Amino acid sequence: MLFWILFIGAITRIDCYFSEEKNPEESKVQPPTVVIAIIARNAAHSLPYYLGALERLDYPKNRISIWAATDHNIDNTTAVLREWLTIMQRFYHYVEWRPMDKPTSYPGELGPKHWTNGRYEYVMKLKQAALNFAKRRWADYILYADTDNILTNPKTLSLMVAENKSVIAPMMDSQTAYSNYWCGITPQGYYRRTAEYFPTKHRHRLGCYPVPMVHSTMLLDLRKQGTKKLAFHPPHKDYSWPFDDIIVFAFSCRVSEVQMYLCNKERYGYANVPTKPHQTIEDDRINFVHLQLESMIDGPPMHPSRYSHLLPKQRDLMGFDEIYLINLRRRPDRQERMLRSLNELEIDVKVVDAVDGGALNSSEIKLLGVDLLPGYFDPFSGRTLTKGEVGCFLSHYFIWKEIVDMQLDTALVFEDDIRFQGNFKRRLLRLMDEVAKVELDWDIIYLGRKQVQPGDEVVVENVRNLVVADYSYWTLSYMISQQGAQKLLNAEPLSKMLPVDEFLPIMYDKHSNEEYKAHFQNRNLQAYSTHPLLVQPCHYAGDPEWVSDTETSTIWDDDSVRTDWRGSFKTLKGSSPPAGLHSAYRDEL
Ligand SMILES: *[C@@H]1O[C@H](CO)[C@@H](O)[C@H](O)[C@H]1NC(C)=O
Ligand SMILES: *[C@@H]1O[C@H](CO)[C@@H](O)[C@H](O)[C@H]1NC(C)=O
Ligand SMILES: *[C@@H]1O[C@H](CO)[C@@H](O)[C@H](O)[C@H]1NC(C)=O
Repeated sequence: MLFWILFIGAITRIDCYFSEEKNPEESKVQPPTVVIAIIARNAAHSLPYYLGALERLDYPKNRISIWAATDHNIDNTTAVLREWLTIMQRFYHYVEWRPMDKPTSYPGELGPKHWTNGRYEYVMKLKQAALNFAKRRWADYILYADTDNILTNPKTLSLMVAENKSVIAPMMDSQTAYSNYWCGITPQGYYRRTAEYFPTKHRHRLGCYPVPMVHSTMLLDLRKQGTKKLAFHPPHKDYSWPFDDIIVFAFSCRVSEVQMYLCNKERYGYANVPTKPHQTIEDDRINFVHLQLESMIDGPPMHPSRYSHLLPKQRDLMGFDEIYLINLRRRPDRQERMLRSLNELEIDVKVVDAVDGGALNSSEIKLLGVDLLPGYFDPFSGRTLTKGEVGCFLSHYFIWKEIVDMQLDTALVFEDDIRFQGNFKRRLLRLMDEVAKVELDWDIIYLGRKQVQPGDEVVVENVRNLVVADYSYWTLSYMISQQGAQKLLNAEPLSKMLPVDEFLPIMYDKHSNEEYKAHFQNRNLQAYSTHPLLVQPCHYAGDPEWVSDTETSTIWDDDSVRTDWRGSFKTLKGSSPPAGLHSAYRDEL
């Protein structure tokens, strides 16, 4: 009897133990399963960055399967992709690998960037095969991501899943007006530009919007009833629009009454602008390098995969005797970005420590032989020279002196807060080539500056994109010759200093102030400028992160008077943003 009481008591105790002392919650649901479809062709240059971004997605890899196909390649795409998949397959739930070595081109194509009907059809079939694979495996989602779309934001997949839409795309940034969506479509199925496009692209409106077309990178929710009918191939029986995989799919969504959405709440990544049919993989690679440089400024930057092989860069001096990068030691961030950018552009530079004007006191400045140009005042703020401006002048001056001392024929100078225009290196090489052909006698050629009075400048005959420089501000980047450096030194500018970007226009006799000019006798510097410019300043006033080292400092000869030159016309305010320039450049490729 006692035994039974004890026994029941024990059971009761155990009961209590479970029901009262501990009350475990239901465990969390695992994230939905996703298939990522990788369709790669001639993408060896972007793949390391593309794969690096996939690797960094903050989504559990054991909930992701990869479906990867590659074919029609003439570059190293298959090897790069195979290497990555071999290493990564143990992290992902499953990897399906479909390489095809032959043929290396489609019948009748003009080049690897040309889309023939045969190619469209093949890509539709591949996308359909990926979709069938995902459905067979009962995946919850399929993510299509083109190999020239780099998802630098690791939250992108989770964020898109959280939106709970049937078909949704994260908006991709690019070097031009291009992105992976349309806001309008014509009755014939072609692109129609609408009033919503740019406010969305420029993020003047933020959200997730219904649009008639998303492409390149998009997420399909396969659990939703509506997506069951969606197809890439064969096209719908009523299909009469252009034979193009993205339009076929947009039509499929339309007839299935599935709304496509575009999201731009955050920055998700970048899309390389497609090149034209006759262009080469090299053109595509150069575009991609430009995109990489832009990502270093606007962020988040691209990073290559740890598991893919990058070809070593072949840097050179582009025919100059020296290329200088002026960098303030206390701005290592700028130096790092510039060196990474120049490495991508395969340009060698010599970093020179800028003279930190702010660290000099007025007696040190005078010891260097610096004296103010009599009567100099900043025309806009009314203040005199700042220490920042003295430092900036001395930094350029010491480079001119080195050019003369070392007898360099030509040199190129970069400041460290610049943004390169697309195709920078090729354009500069072409310019130098044409300048040499017409035997132009030049002392200085601006690659980046601010034109003081916008207006037409005299065009140089037989050299594309070169003008005779009018009154200009800034010294972002310029080419300078031995003769040019000599002329600048001969003017003995330290003893009558004004900002370096006022000194240069005096020397080529385009400055508007006669009194300043009277202090310099030989104003015969031969100055030109590229047009359009090849570099722009990195940031614009009004941009909260913009800090100029010459902007705020103290007066050159008094360590106690603080000044700033905000409000001066020389600041970046009022200069036009470079957005429009990007597209102008592309057409000249
Ligand atoms: C192609 O890629 C593989 C794997 O990353 C690498 O080992 C090989 O050196 C690459 N070849 C060329 C020509 O780039
Ligand atoms: C997602 O959308 C479906 C309709 O497609 C709806 O039934 C469901 O409640 C939504 N889920 C969430 C978490 O909002
Ligand atoms: C300026 O700096 C030098 C060197 O650091 C120092 O010797 C000198 O006393 C300073 N002069 C003034 C006026 O502060």
